[in-house]
Order: sequence, then structure tokens, then C-alpha cells
Amino acid sequence: MSQCRARSLQRLLRCKHASGSKASCSRLVLGIETSCDDTGAAVMDETGTILGESLHSQKEVHLRSGGIIPTVAQQLHRENIERVVQEALDRSGVTPAELCAVATTVKPGLALSLGVGLQFSQRFVREHNKPFIPIHHMEAHALTVRMLHPLTFPFLVLLVSGGHSLLAVARGVRDFLLLGHTLDEAPGDTLDKVARRLSLRKHPQCFTLSGGQAIELLAKDGDRKRFGFRTPMGQTPDCCFSFTGLRNQITMLIKKKEAEEGVEEGTLLSCVNDIAAATQHTVALHLAKRTHRAVLFCKANDLLPSDNPTLVLSGGVASNHYIRKALMIITEATGLRLLCPPAKFCTDNGVMIAWNGVERLREGNGILPPDVDVSYEPKAPLGVDISAEVRAAAIRLPSIQLKIPN
Ligand code: KG4
Ligand code: ZN
Repeated sequence: MSQCRARSLQRLLRCKHASGSKASCSRLVLGIETSCDDTGAAVMDETGTILGESLHSQKEVHLRSGGIIPTVAQQLHRENIERVVQEALDRSGVTPAELCAVATTVKPGLALSLGVGLQFSQRFVREHNKPFIPIHHMEAHALTVRMLHPLTFPFLVLLVSGGHSLLAVARGVRDFLLLGHTLDEAPGDTLDKVARRLSLRKHPQCFTLSGGQAIELLAKDGDRKRFGFRTPMGQTPDCCFSFTGLRNQITMLIKKKEAEEGVEEGTLLSCVNDIAAATQHTVALHLAKRTHRAVLFCKANDLLPSDNPTLVLSGGVASNHYIRKALMIITEATGLRLLCPPAKFCTDNGVMIAWNGVERLREGNGILPPDVDVSYEPKAPLGVDISAEVRAAAIRLPSIQLKIPN
């Protein structure tokens, strides 16, 4: 950036408001999220106080159509983004002129969804002459917890959502070491597909719930031991994940049970609670075992502080209490502290994007003038990938009794 452009960016980044809004004279950030099926916006001050937020979920529509259709998601983002942003601004009592910057998810995610948020934001920052902060969706999930707890870098983070499953060491706002990632699909995607295959939308308690929520609810009354699924990648001593093999095992069991009960695909099985419980248990075991190895790798390589080493669990699937309890067993056995944001900040929202904008603003890192063209990136790895080194270390896990309370 030329010196002249850098100076004009510095001018734009000064606090613009004095009174009238809820905030004192602290720099204000508008965060915008449209990477998947939630249109979210929030206004936050530099201390992390949420001044106003709004969220429009497309869940109902996608549940009805049996999965996210990208063109439908794009259309719904288009229909809602203006209103959602205006609502967040109105609730905060902040005008566009008073904002210091706009932060928007630009990667990774569904191309058509990312495009709507990015196009809206670039128009907005040009119209109001505001700096733009392009946000990595997974960095935002990883750092949300710092808005709620005084947590310093570095820390270990397990992010599990509908699109991702990864273990990383967060060393700074934009500095991550990727220890492992999914080799096929993400756990939320697996839970959504299993829920669809089980036709849980027909279940009277589940028709408004996401797949993961439905499985968690039904599993409460199920016997997790009735059906034994193999935990994935038992012979691979790394921190990567795989879920398609598990989904295959579950689908085969469902077909067998349909044949035994003499019912067609699409009928609710009598053993649906037990299948949900066994599914959730195996997902939890897989996540816990890979995380256990990640903790041991971090300890062997001095990647975490000796004082209060922390595991952060976040992303939509982290709302699951059974999975939280499984991870708690690992952190207690290895001397780590476990931190999870509350469920509403685990699933996608505008607040986490605004917070990431605040973190970047505080560091003066990755802030662009309004006229710079930015492209979205549907695929974007998180940080420096050292999963090959983790695999080469071939750390064997000591046996831990994973007796997860229901
Ligand atoms: O982070 P998120 O809102 O969106 C993505 O970035 O993907 O995560 C959505 C995923 C969905 O697959 C949903 O089924 C899953 O999170 N999920 C859950 C629970 N609540 C949401 N999975 C398991 N247990 C839950 N309670
Ligand atoms: Zn997400």
C-alpha cells in the first residue's frame, strides 16, 4: 500500500462517533456473515460489547428440501441481507457514518452464499467510505471464545461444523498451525445426512431441528451400546478425521433394520433412538481420540503454555453436550482446561465476525481501504498445515476409559 493510501486508511480508522449511540468513544465494527445458510450481522465496540445483532436462519427451508441447495441459499441471502444489516444497526443505535470498519466472511464457504455478503459489503464500504476487513470463517469460529474469556495465545482448538473438522494451534489472530483436518466430510454433514436417512423430520420432536440437534435429542433416550460402530481411523496415528466410513456403517444398519421391520425407506424405525445414540457416541469417540493425540503432540513439541493450557471447542457441532463431555474427559486426563462458547456463538452468527474484525482492528492487521477489490474463496485452508509432521510422529494413545455420562 502506498504511503498516501496508508495515511488515508489511518484517518478512516479513527473513532468517528462521540455520543448518541450506546457505546462510549470506542471504535465500532459491523460484522457480516453469509458463508453458508445463516445471514448474520452485528455491531460491536472495541471492547467486545455487542451493541446490536440480527440473524436470519434458512434452516427451515433447507430441512424441507432435504439439504442446502446453493442457489436457494443465495436467493435467501439476497432477500434478507439488507434487512438483517439494518436491524443490527437499528438495534445498536449506530449509524453507518459512526462505524470504524466493516468485517465480512469471504472464505471458506459456499461460493454463491459468500458472494452475496461480499458484494453487499463492498457496496456498503464504498458508499460510506469505510475500511474493509475480509474474514476467514474458521479463524472467526476459533477466536469467538476470546470475546467471552480472557484467553491468551497459544491454545489448542477443535472446530467441528457442517463444513469442517479440524484441530489447530491458535498462535495469534491470523497465525494457526493445522494439526489435522477431515479427509472427507465434516461431522455436522454426517449427522445431517444420517438424520435425513432416518427421516427424522417425520419425528414429532425433531421436525424443526437440524440433523445434529435431532440426533442429540433422540440419543438421550437411546442405548448407545445396542449397535457397535467401528471408530474411524483406529490404525492411523495422526490427527485427521474421516466420517464417510462411519456413515456407510450406519446406512447399512438402517437398511438391515428396515428389512427386519418390513418397512420402506422413509419410515421411522422403532430403534431410531438407539441408532442416534450409537452414532453420536462414535462421533464423540472419534473427535476425542484425535484431540487426545493433538494434546500429546502439542506437549511433546512445547506448543502450549505450561500455565493453564487450554482446549477450545467451537463450531455448530460443539453445541452438542455429549461431545463436550467426551472432550472434557480428555482435557481432565491431560491437565488442560476446556472452553466452549455457548451454543448461540458456536453456530454461525454475525457476532463472531464482528469480533474477528475487532481483533484485527486492535492489531491493525489485514485492514483494506474501501476501494480494494476482494474475491471470495470457497476453499481456504486454516494456517500452516503440519498434519504430515503429526502423522510422522505416530503418537500412540495411552488407553483412557471414555465413559461418557449421558
Ligand atoms: O457452524 P455451523 O452453524 O455452520 C457451518 O459452518 O457449517 O454448524 C452447523 C452444523 C450442522 O451440521 C448441524 O447439524 C450441527 O452444526 N449442529 C449440531 C448441533 N447443533 C448444530 N451437531 C450436533 N449436536 C448439536 N446440538
Ligand atoms: Zn461455521
